[in-house]
Amino acid sequence: MLDPAELDKVYLCDALTKLQSLPDACIDLIYIDPPFGSGKAQSMTRIRTGEGEQLRKGFGDRTYQFSVISHQSFDDRLPRTDYLQFLSEVLLEAHRTLKTTGSIYVHLDHHSVHYVKVRLDEIFGEERFLNEIIWAYDYGGRHRDRWPQKHDSLLWYAKSKTWTFNRDEIDRLPYMAPGLVPKEKALRGKLPTDVWWMTIVPTNSKERTGYPTQKPLALLRRIILASSRPGELVVDVFCGSGTTLVAAAQCGRHYIGADISQDAVALAQLRLTALNADKS
Ligand SMILES: C[S@@+](CC[C@H](N)C(=O)[O-])C[C@H]1O[C@@H](n2cnc3c(N)ncnc32)[C@H](O)[C@@H]1O
Repeated sequence: MLDPAELDKVYLCDALTKLQSLPDACIDLIYIDPPFGSGKAQSMTRIRTGEGEQLRKGFGDRTYQFSVISHQSFDDRLPRTDYLQFLSEVLLEAHRTLKTTGSIYVHLDHHSVHYVKVRLDEIFGEERFLNEIIWAYDYGGRHRDRWPQKHDSLLWYAKSKTWTFNRDEIDRLPYMAPGLVPKEKALRGKLPTDVWWMTIVPTNSKERTGYPTQKPLALLRRIILASSRPGELVVDVFCGSGTTLVAAAQCGRHYIGADISQDAVALAQLRLTALNADKS
């Protein structure tokens, strides 16, 4: 049995170790956004312009002063075979710790989605594959010699033949041609398909923490509302800045988070404390 004292906490801990510490069949929903196997160190430096010791060249070759407010990073340079070996061990533990009615979303991109899909088919069974969700966004640099790569892939698997999908809880979208459907339907909007157009966290938004590859709360809220019920347990063992945990708390779910980065855990805790302060 899962000790209730373990709930609603963020652990400074390796993903595999955290899952290994949990009993069988105790989790309702797992979302993981592991390093993508990009072969790069991921980092992000936040700066404040208009003051500071340092100079930078900007638009029109003008120089401006800036100071560094924060620098966050994590390593994504494991060789592919090691990366897949590590992730497979995590996925095996995820399978063991999910309830029979539970499901898992694995957030990836073009670097590794095809390799990881094969592993997930082996561990969960091909017949347990539910969706590949394409999260499409439009931000950042563009290749000049190929189509700009502007989507991530989220693989969704169930543990058994029974899983949660709360259609009525999902945010609805405007019809592209509302004039072609009855007024009542147009007013209700339509359910999203497996292609989700959603902005990344805007640079100037309050949500922005400065953590590299921070995911939008709207993305996690959609997943959590659709695939878990109030009071259930949502787990993210690569929680980074804590987006999943904040979204889970906002949606009235319990959560357990883990990350090996001290900066990440501190940031996630800060966000959760701020959320609780807003509530009280
Ligand atoms: C893509 S980021 C997650 C970003 C997060 N979804 C967010 O919204 O902020 C991946 C995270 O995995 C963490 N990580 C890498 N290897 C890990 C491991 N072995 N165990 C736990 N966390 C790990 C990194 O520190 C990083 O925070």
